[in-house]
Amino acid sequence: MSTRKFAAIATGMTLALTLAACGGGGAGTTDDEQPAGDDTAAEDTEGGLIGVSMPTQVSERWIADGDAVKAGLEEAGYEVDLQYAGDDIPTQSQQIDQMITKGAKLLIIAAIDGTALAGQLDAAAAAGIPVIAYDRLIRDSENVDFYVTFDNYNVGVQQATALLVGLGLLDAEGNEVADAPAGPFNIEVFAGSLDDNNAHFFFDGAMETLKPYLDDGTLVIKSGQAEIEQVATLRWAGETAQKRMEDLLTSSYSDGTQVQGVLSPNDTLARGIITALQNAGYTEMPPITGQDAEIASVKLIADGVQFSTIFKDTRKLADQSVAAAQDFLAGEEPEANDTETYDNGVKVVPSYLLESDIVYADNIEALLVESGYWTAEEIAAGQADG
Ligand code: GAL
Repeated sequence: MSTRKFAAIATGMTLALTLAACGGGGAGTTDDEQPAGDDTAAEDTEGGLIGVSMPTQVSERWIADGDAVKAGLEEAGYEVDLQYAGDDIPTQSQQIDQMITKGAKLLIIAAIDGTALAGQLDAAAAAGIPVIAYDRLIRDSENVDFYVTFDNYNVGVQQATALLVGLGLLDAEGNEVADAPAGPFNIEVFAGSLDDNNAHFFFDGAMETLKPYLDDGTLVIKSGQAEIEQVATLRWAGETAQKRMEDLLTSSYSDGTQVQGVLSPNDTLARGIITALQNAGYTEMPPITGQDAEIASVKLIADGVQFSTIFKDTRKLADQSVAAAQDFLAGEEPEANDTETYDNGVKVVPSYLLESDIVYADNIEALLVESGYWTAEEIAAGQADG
């Protein structure tokens, strides 16, 4: 790693610490708040304008991402146009068009639909504006210059591992348990939005991990719905997952059999699934997985309702995107650690992948509180501070 890059990341870390100190956690601030150090940043924006396009504020993680990217860029001397598109594809296209018109020097985009932005990217390329895909790959375009994300396949492996741990088939280290219960366990699986490239990676990683257990009959997907097209959830909507779980209970479990485990690809969906099970009279939840360490779900995990989540530290992702932006604007190529995995249909996009962690009730403190992501008070309340 170059010294300059380390300095950039260190700046981000200092900033995250400052934010944590001032705001009680880097994950929960809102766009309305002025980040710490904003006064100085506002005076020193000669770096130019950078457009940051985020999908939605419904899933709280994107608010944390947007705040962290904005703060990091401002700290580095840029002016930031941060926009949320309300999960509406035309709105996102329009917001990006406007960023280009306003003279943005670089774009950082978390796409709603990974295939819907080719027109905007053509315009960006024509204007010589580098594009960084943030967390979600932008597909079908030559004009994506870099991708910062987590190891998405491994996120799916971690989700399935957590489910197997919850069922007592693996121990907390992910090793086979000698006297594991034989099953069969009735499980159901859910996936994210088909237009989100990540949803496919999560599902593939999870299903590959569950496959031996499905093949030998330890696990049974009682509904028979095991294809991503059957189990996907458009726009990652919690209500859609709740409705599907309700339908599954009616169609496949009205004979009195219990759902014994659910693979949920993120926390918003997990909460919808939990609501469906609670409404159907389940007093104790089977193991239900998640992703994003959203505050409402972290509380549910602490309370023994949701079983697990995957912690993707959005502060690290933001730092990485800021470092990549600085490289591009200095005329350099950012450092990639994966140049094979993310083929967007036109080219393999050079990527920087970060690692994620499985969160269970007993490591919430170590992973989320000690790192300053959430405070113990926020977790107890199930809500981010202001
Ligand atoms: C994915 C992202 C997940 C989750 C989901 C819902 O693209 O990688 O972490 O947040 O979107 O918005």
